[in-house]
Amino acid sequence: MSTESVAVEDLTLEEAAAELARLSAEIAHNDELYHGEDAPAISDADYDALKRRNDAIEARFPELIRDDSPSRRVGATPSSAFAQVVHARPMLSLDNTFSQEDVRDFVASVYRFLGQLPDCSIAFTAEPKIDGLSMSIRYENGRLVTAATRGDGTTGENVTANIRTVKDVPDRLPAGAPSVVEVRGEIYMAKSDFLALNAQMEAQGKQTYVNPRNTASGSLRQLDPKVTANRKLRFFAYAWGEMSEMPADTQFGMVEFFEKWGFPVNPLMKRLNSVEDILKHYDEIGKMRADLDYDIDGVVYKVDRLDLQQRLGFRSRSPRWATAHKFPAEQAFTTVTNIEIQVGRTGALTPVARLEPITVGGVVVTNATLHNEDYIKGIGNSGERIRPEDHDIRIGDTVIVQRAGDVIPQVLDVVLERRPAEAQPYALPKRCPVCGSHALRERNEKTGKLDSVTRCTGGFVCRAQAVEHLKHFVSRNAFDIEGLGSKQIDFFFEAEDPALQIRTAPDIFTLKRRQEASLSKLENIEGFGKVSVRKLFDAIDGRREIALHRFIYALGIRHVGETTAKLLSRAFGTYEAFEGAMQEAASFSGDSWNELNNIEGIGEVVARAIVEFYKEPRNVEVIGRLLEEVTPLAAEQPQTGNSPVAGKTVVFTGSLEKFTRDEAKARAESLGAKVAGSVSKKTDFVVAGPGAGSKLDKARELGITTMDEDEWLALIGG
Ligand code: IVH
Repeated sequence: MSTESVAVEDLTLEEAAAELARLSAEIAHNDELYHGEDAPAISDADYDALKRRNDAIEARFPELIRDDSPSRRVGATPSSAFAQVVHARPMLSLDNTFSQEDVRDFVASVYRFLGQLPDCSIAFTAEPKIDGLSMSIRYENGRLVTAATRGDGTTGENVTANIRTVKDVPDRLPAGAPSVVEVRGEIYMAKSDFLALNAQMEAQGKQTYVNPRNTASGSLRQLDPKVTANRKLRFFAYAWGEMSEMPADTQFGMVEFFEKWGFPVNPLMKRLNSVEDILKHYDEIGKMRADLDYDIDGVVYKVDRLDLQQRLGFRSRSPRWATAHKFPAEQAFTTVTNIEIQVGRTGALTPVARLEPITVGGVVVTNATLHNEDYIKGIGNSGERIRPEDHDIRIGDTVIVQRAGDVIPQVLDVVLERRPAEAQPYALPKRCPVCGSHALRERNEKTGKLDSVTRCTGGFVCRAQAVEHLKHFVSRNAFDIEGLGSKQIDFFFEAEDPALQIRTAPDIFTLKRRQEASLSKLENIEGFGKVSVRKLFDAIDGRREIALHRFIYALGIRHVGETTAKLLSRAFGTYEAFEGAMQEAASFSGDSWNELNNIEGIGEVVARAIVEFYKEPRNVEVIGRLLEEVTPLAAEQPQTGNSPVAGKTVVFTGSLEKFTRDEAKARAESLGAKVAGSVSKKTDFVVAGPGAGSKLDKARELGITTMDEDEWLALIGG
């Protein structure tokens, strides 16, 4: 379902999660265009709007903040407001380990790499992984000269003026320190300072902050250093960049020097000699975690001897000599105060647990998805037990809630001892709570298994489905009608006056005519001025001609997302050809049915859903009315000319240096080539850049023409 046009305050939990995922990807994509190619595809204002929407959704659903959220990707987009700094040595990240087993593997791999015997012990340091922002602070001749965020690892933002306001960071180093010193470490906000700040915000009636990390990041990226100075930021030193001289030859020794030079260092750092000791320290830190005045999300292990670190070196983005042993996802106990049902566009009934608000991993969680009927009973997607039989989820139950980075909070288990005597097993309603139609679990025709989703059978009768359909229809990748957002759709849908009502998509396009013929004018209704009504009608009229793939996507056919809509548009060329073929395929056999199934990227489930859609007379009737108002434009056929790659299948592998993958793909497609992800007998060319591996091997094995990027460019004519 598309959620792009839904107002933040109207998003359901699931929609918000989907929307955050979309925004994260879209912002990352634009970041890449901006930095990688210096060719931004959207205006700064549009980019900021994406970021603001992301922030607003995060403020409303803090439990959904993703690990890869743009708000966490601090500096990933060096904002134009801060000058950029190229790091003298790149700032790398750490590999993650999640289990004792992983840690043993890590230690074993260090021994293996160094070719030393296991009984010759290698010392490791173990210290908390601080959940803040990494910072590189450069001193020349004992004076602080620059401070930069990590950014993309190579280039960060110059935040020197702000870092100078942080008391933990000395402005000068003592005499005797090397002439060039880059101290690296973590800027963070103490939990106590965060709580005090929020209390103050609340007292002033202002919006409170989500968590210490985001607040620290926001505080640091203030353009006015006075604001930063008011937020008590702190620092722990744990690493270094360029050094004109090394004062010590171990990790531990280096950190001792940082302390001597006046930097705070973490008191829980230890030097240990065996895996067992390392794991013990991990457990100890884990036990202390809640009582520490700063957020941590794991323990970092590093080979202590610097000569060994040097020998171990780096993989592409992380050192072989260190790893971060992450703590498991945070869990908390709370009670289920209610179970509510949300009805989606395709009629899916999703149970949502309303929870007594609880802080999990620093954010307040108030609801959690229960997915479907089976999940409530403790049965997983493949029919397996995920909880004991009597651990079904009931209203009134005390439950264990888990929040892991970027996923919707989950109810993991039920505490049976605390189940109230009167708690009843929860049964999903037999009827849709919105329209009263039967709600059913369908049986998969192929496997004979019950679908996990319970669906309202009301179709068009169901207000929830109809409204969600309309919202999808006007959403950004569909008709994209400005001024017709989620709120307005609700209004027009509920309107009793026929001159104002929008119940189906064609009604959108007849609204202006109905308004002209009526005395009940939209412009007299609160929330719509004269100007906004005119703009709305212009926006609607502006969509009377529309790209075929948008039109198909807007129809809201089950399983037909944007990608499938594009495939269909390209394959059939015109809407008439598409609908005609779908009518012919009604018996799931014959040429048209085969043609549909032969489209690469369309499988049987999707094909069936499309044909089923056209077997419903009501759909055909609504589309008929829509076509009286709207013209889907014939799909543009790629201008292939007599390109030597027209009709050929190409695979790109390895890293490309002259353009991004996306660009290479778009270019090839514009010349009529198909771009595939894997090499098969059908592949015509494999374009291999540095680092190409198994795909190139396979191509050679199959005798397929391979070439490098320059040869490819020569082939397609530069
Ligand atoms: S060492 C070459 N030590 O974790 C590796 N990093 O996932 C240098 N972090 O970007 C990093 N506490 O922001 C190191 N005690 C610690 C850390 C730590 C937090 C962060 C740091 C880094 C990220 C890597």
